[in-house]
Amino acid sequence: MTDIISSSQPAWAIPGYLEIRDNRLRINGVDAVELAKEFDTPLFVVSAPRIRHNIARLLEAASHHKKIKLCYASKANNTLGVLRVVRDAGIDVEVNSGGELFRALRAGVGLHIHVGSQTPDPEPYVEALAAMWDHLLWLHRETGHKLQHINIGGGIPVNYLRDDMHAEEIGDAERDMLGADLTSAEMMEAAIEAVRSSAREAGAEYLLDDLEIVMEPGRAVIADAVTILTKVRNVKYRPETGENWALTDAGYNLMLSMVMYHWYYHAIDASRAAEPPVSRYRMAGPLCDGGDVYFDLHGEGRLPDCRLLPANVEVGERIAN
Ligand SMILES: Cc1ncc(COP(=O)(O)O)c(C=O)c1O
Repeated sequence: MTDIISSSQPAWAIPGYLEIRDNRLRINGVDAVELAKEFDTPLFVVSAPRIRHNIARLLEAASHHKKIKLCYASKANNTLGVLRVVRDAGIDVEVNSGGELFRALRAGVGLHIHVGSQTPDPEPYVEALAAMWDHLLWLHRETGHKLQHINIGGGIPVNYLRDDMHAEEIGDAERDMLGADLTSAEMMEAAIEAVRSSAREAGAEYLLDDLEIVMEPGRAVIADAVTILTKVRNVKYRPETGENWALTDAGYNLMLSMVMYHWYYHAIDASRAAEPPVSRYRMAGPLCDGGDVYFDLHGEGRLPDCRLLPANVEVGERIAN
């Protein structure tokens, strides 16, 4: 047995964070299989260093612009531990509650939009900001009121297909969306430029002087900082279809977006992370429900039919999603 990090890390690996050592998945250096044994599965593992890293990247991108305020969209994951890390990392928290309204009223109203999540290119932002700017200008001309901030919502995409082993099975539109690699810096640059050029065109650049631009990234902070560890509870071969199945102890009860949005969760065999993922497995959860599957039940091509895992998966192996 070796104790070195494999030199040929797969595409999903993130140096210092998600790595293979001794054939097992390590999360920030911690053995994922040992974690699963100690705390049992299903187990959500949240990486504070990864959240800090993601926030540092956002703050770096924001530092190139005057007056950008970053607020983590806490609907993405609002456990107290996550919120504490977010606050310690130096950004604010955005909430959806009466408290938010109270604060907003106290702070003086601004305009708020959220164009949608996982937007693969900046055009929708640019268009939405231009419309927002028109509104801001109209308001100023009609009432003389200078808005203090505009809030351009979240939506910075996260590349969920870093390892594109299933890319061919996912429909084109879905692949472009899930695999978007627009960076937070590019997104901010495009957004700020849209505001500036609208202001220039309207001869109203002075309105920018005190204007704060608020962004509310959610997934850009948390999406790749959370792993769910599951255990294989059953494997079976179905001769009538020639397919192997792997049934785990977590399904849509914990990964709700799998059925709600047909969201893609990458699967890694944490117990044999260095072994080539050469076998196709239909994957399903434990809910005894026809819809509790990791593939697209209606065959709409939004999710891959199978996940690639090492050959001969056995009961008890831990799978990381
Ligand atoms: C109002 C608002 N702000 C921010 C976000 C966060 O979006 P994302 O996770 O795409 O950054 C959302 C997500 O739905 C939202 O509705």
